[in-house]
Amino acid sequence: MRVFVDCDPGIDDAVALAYLAARPEVEIVGVGAVFGNNSVDVTADNALRLLALYGRPGVPVAVGAARPLVQAPRLAEHVHGDNGLGDVELPAPSEKPVAESAAELLVRLVRESPGEIDVLAVGPLTNLAIALGLEPELPGLVRRLVVMGGAVRVPGNVASHTEANINNDPEAAEAVFGAGFDLDLIALDITMKTVATPEWLAELKEVPGERAERTSAFLDFYAEFYTGIFGVRQCAMHDPLAAAVLVDPHLVTESFEAPLRVELSGRLTRGMTVADLRQRPARDDRRPARVITEVAEAAFLGLMLDALR
Ligand code: RIB
Ligand code: CA
Repeated sequence: MRVFVDCDPGIDDAVALAYLAARPEVEIVGVGAVFGNNSVDVTADNALRLLALYGRPGVPVAVGAARPLVQAPRLAEHVHGDNGLGDVELPAPSEKPVAESAAELLVRLVRESPGEIDVLAVGPLTNLAIALGLEPELPGLVRRLVVMGGAVRVPGNVASHTEANINNDPEAAEAVFGAGFDLDLIALDITMKTVATPEWLAELKEVPGERAERTSAFLDFYAEFYTGIFGVRQCAMHDPLAAAVLVDPHLVTESFEAPLRVELSGRLTRGMTVADLRQRPARDDRRPARVITEVAEAAFLGLMLDALR
């Protein structure tokens, strides 16, 4: 399995990279960094540091978009820390980002290997939208796209109706949702009920080794934020679940298909992910996405822990 990861590490992005890196059958062909949880120079530097931590040195990391296509950027240090990793220090990277942009790296790799590379997108979708501009045939060159983003039938997180990744670049998300990818959406519908429980976090603390110890420290910071939301010391596993659905699709136990759009002009709903849930959407509608609604949570958490042992 060959995977390109577009991300904004970010604590849960880091845990998603850990999931991928632990699987010998997964080749991470490239990583695109994007603004979101922090500025793109920080997320790119974090990607380099995390690939070294999780035993995947040498993966090309490309710096992507520093801001959304249209609106001004809004970062999330309050959730992921000033350094994007819960203020946990990792060794400075020994490698530098490649000269290509994230969009250029993605387009070159999928042109070289048409239909072979899966894309995991767990940050704002700006890099993918730019890549579509460079290569309009991108959906046909990518094998499968798994996106963490959106809130379809549940409340948002950054606002009443909007989820952070989509809200961070609504125009980019609308371009991606309408492009015709074979697309799985891992939205808040499933990620807000797939959580690292207090017991799981405690079990992780017992796992020896630097990877587990650093990841546990990242999650300590992240769990503090989510304690304020859940009232219990646990945290939503947004990006790691998206990685797991990509690598282990058997974890999905329920989903539905619907064309997805993004509200671009609503005063209260700009950035909202709108699924057409009618039995028969308009015939000329866009290719439906698969919206994941149930997963084998215990199995996922077990695989996630195994990835850190
Ligand atoms: O809404 C959650 C998403 O926004 C996750 O990808 C998290 O890392 C942030 O990017
Ligand atoms: Ca992310």
